[in-house]
Amino acid sequence: MVLQKILHMNSGNGETSYANNSSFQNVTISKTWDLVDETLRNMLENGDFADDHCLNLVDLGCASGPNALSVVSHVTDTIQELRKNGDGTSQEIQFFLNDLPNNDFNSLFKLVEIFNKGKEVCGSRSRCSIYGLPGSFYSRLFPRKTLHFAYSSCSLHWLSQVPYGLESENEENIYIAVDSPSEVLDAYAEQYKRDLFTFLSLRGEEMVPGGHMVLTFIGRRVEDRSSKDDCAHLAILAQTLLDMVTQGLLKKDDLHSFNVPIYMPCQQEIESIISQQGSFKIKKIVTFPVRWDVNKDTDESPFDKTRSGNLISDCVRAFMEPMLVSHFGELIDCNVLFERYSVKIGEYFSKERTSHHMLAISMTIQ
Ligand SMILES: C[S@@+](CC[C@H](N)C(=O)[O-])C[C@H]1O[C@@H](n2cnc3c(N)ncnc32)[C@H](O)[C@@H]1O
Repeated sequence: MVLQKILHMNSGNGETSYANNSSFQNVTISKTWDLVDETLRNMLENGDFADDHCLNLVDLGCASGPNALSVVSHVTDTIQELRKNGDGTSQEIQFFLNDLPNNDFNSLFKLVEIFNKGKEVCGSRSRCSIYGLPGSFYSRLFPRKTLHFAYSSCSLHWLSQVPYGLESENEENIYIAVDSPSEVLDAYAEQYKRDLFTFLSLRGEEMVPGGHMVLTFIGRRVEDRSSKDDCAHLAILAQTLLDMVTQGLLKKDDLHSFNVPIYMPCQQEIESIISQQGSFKIKKIVTFPVRWDVNKDTDESPFDKTRSGNLISDCVRAFMEPMLVSHFGELIDCNVLFERYSVKIGEYFSKERTSHHMLAISMTIQ
């Protein structure tokens, strides 16, 4: 499977789109603003960018929908605010929105147009040119020493490929599960290490001296790689697929050969890879929980199993559907799959009330 050709979030603005089902990621982004602001302040206070023609900023793995624009808006406003009290330099800003080529850049560009018009209407003087940047963040994206600030949220758990050797080992699991053999755990961890190492080396080449990054990971709270809490949402999806195999709606071989190219690392793993790779120095790490069913509109409402099940299911569908359709082909009816999944996950969640363990890391090039 050539992952880069398949991987994308659900496109457009419809009911099942990523744009309409990314509250979880939106809440995550907003919980990192303090860290982003502190990082930008450090960068502008200590960096010597006076001779640089403009500031180059990037959101790596931006997807499509309002979250990407909220990052552009917050980062550029913060820079503008910091400069008010600063030395008066006012380089223009270039903001690059990066994702894989199959990302719905068309919908994103329409939002960029609305965003730019909004700025004009408000009379904003902050000059920011926004560009789409298709390509894998596991490849070079910028010329050497040209990137000032990189941001990435909820994207670096995507591996560059499904780890080798899983097909014969992981059977009806689709990710690491409590009963996965150690070979599966090792294959995932090794692939993750290679990928994060590559990512850091490439950004290390691209960053200007004094450049900074803020990366937010969906992580694991414990070192145990098969901890139930952190992989239950995918274990329940595997169980729902297995039910469909048992009922003859899907083929067993297709389930056995399906493995999700995702890895949720613990803090120690990330720190160790950053230190071994050596291009970046960690300035600060912040961890926080985000509930699986988080949603801005219903956060204060009393718990409702069905509503929570639907919210979690819609969110998982928005990132899993293209990959499932590509693997299982026409056989898979995602309406049926995710209706069943929402019931199962709602049931699980009513007992566990689980959250994802998020890690946001601010770092600078050394
Ligand atoms: C869950 S979305 C997060 C999007 C956005 N940052 C947010 O928080 O709403 C993850 C995104 O990472 C992108 N992605 C995964 N692997 C990538 C890669 N190698 N290069 C660039 N983007 C990638 C996916 O296509 C997807 O759009």
